[in-house]
Amino acid sequence: MNPILEFFSTLLLVIYYWLEAIVLTFIPASLRGKSVAGETVLVTGAGSGIGRLLSKRFAELGARLVLWDINQSGNEETAEQVKAIGATVRTYTVDLSSREAIYKTAQQVKRDVGEVDILVNNAGIVTGKKFLDCPDHMIQKTFEVNTIAHFWTCKAFLPGMIERNHGHVVNIASSAGLIGVNGLADYCASKFGAVGFDESLRMELSMQGKNGVHTTVVCPYFISTGMFEGAKTREIKVPFFKFPAILPILKPEEVSHRIVDAVLCNQHIIMIPRIIYIFVLLKGFLPGKCGEILSKYFGASNFMDTFKGRNPN
Ligand SMILES: NC(=O)c1ccc[n+]([C@@H]2O[C@H](COP(=O)([O-])OP(=O)(O)OC[C@H]3O[C@@H](n4cnc5c(N)ncnc54)[C@H](O)[C@@H]3O)[C@@H](O)[C@H]2O)c1
Repeated sequence: MNPILEFFSTLLLVIYYWLEAIVLTFIPASLRGKSVAGETVLVTGAGSGIGRLLSKRFAELGARLVLWDINQSGNEETAEQVKAIGATVRTYTVDLSSREAIYKTAQQVKRDVGEVDILVNNAGIVTGKKFLDCPDHMIQKTFEVNTIAHFWTCKAFLPGMIERNHGHVVNIASSAGLIGVNGLADYCASKFGAVGFDESLRMELSMQGKNGVHTTVVCPYFISTGMFEGAKTREIKVPFFKFPAILPILKPEEVSHRIVDAVLCNQHIIMIPRIIYIFVLLKGFLPGKCGEILSKYFGASNFMDTFKGRNPN
């Protein structure tokens, strides 16, 4: 193509998609979202927290559920709640830190229910220790569950999606996968990895022309599921204005609804709350020292000081 023509057509397309994104922001997911009725949705880490709520939300929308968790009883509890909504469900006890276990269970899923349409890589763990206090095996485990498991689940289920040019991979990362946090080196690095994996995978699918296979990466701030039990956020309020706190701990129900809406709309990335978009923008052009000051002001630097976690052992 003529270089001038290529330059202007690229510019026009960028402006067009930018405007489209702005307009779409104001149209609710219920009006523009796809249907997931009859789709098979696999959720990892379905035995509690966000995984359980996502499973229930997809069940409400008519999907079939496949639930994976290392915690059998939690997973069965979720399955009961999903059944009560009226959806069909299968549970599998699987340790996501084991590649062999993932591949073996994936084969079993394909025999039992066939191909998966929506894969939600949600399971995650946090050690909550300062980098040098963190035992090697825990750092390794954090990466295995929070990042590397995504590679194996995608290797198992993505070929089927690509073949049908139909599917969706959802990677639950974190705002800690966009901005580093004091006391969360292994967790942040693992979530940065998940964000990078998602973005690269999306590029790869796009370059292959697989426009029916989507990915969404989810970057929420802290949520009151119990995973970060004890950790305290500073609820900053804007002086003189009656705004709600800028960075309150998020409610799990609200987060799970927003995640499902993003999936229905094939949104590439979702940051919750929206102010995280501004922080990421600021990170791009403010000097590092400003970032440190802001991190202290918003309480992110001391967030982990009182952390206890879900399981102290
Ligand atoms: N809670 C938060 O503040 C927060 C914030 C941002 C992102 N996230 C992310 O959201 C996701 C869900 O977190 P949550 O708050 O619901 O946590 P949670 O602890 O309630 O749920 C995590 C689930 O993953 C399962 N799991 C852990 N290790 C596993 C393994 N080896 N194999 C299989 N399953 C395993 C657990 O049994 C549990 O059911 C995680 O990826 C987390 O990192 C959480």
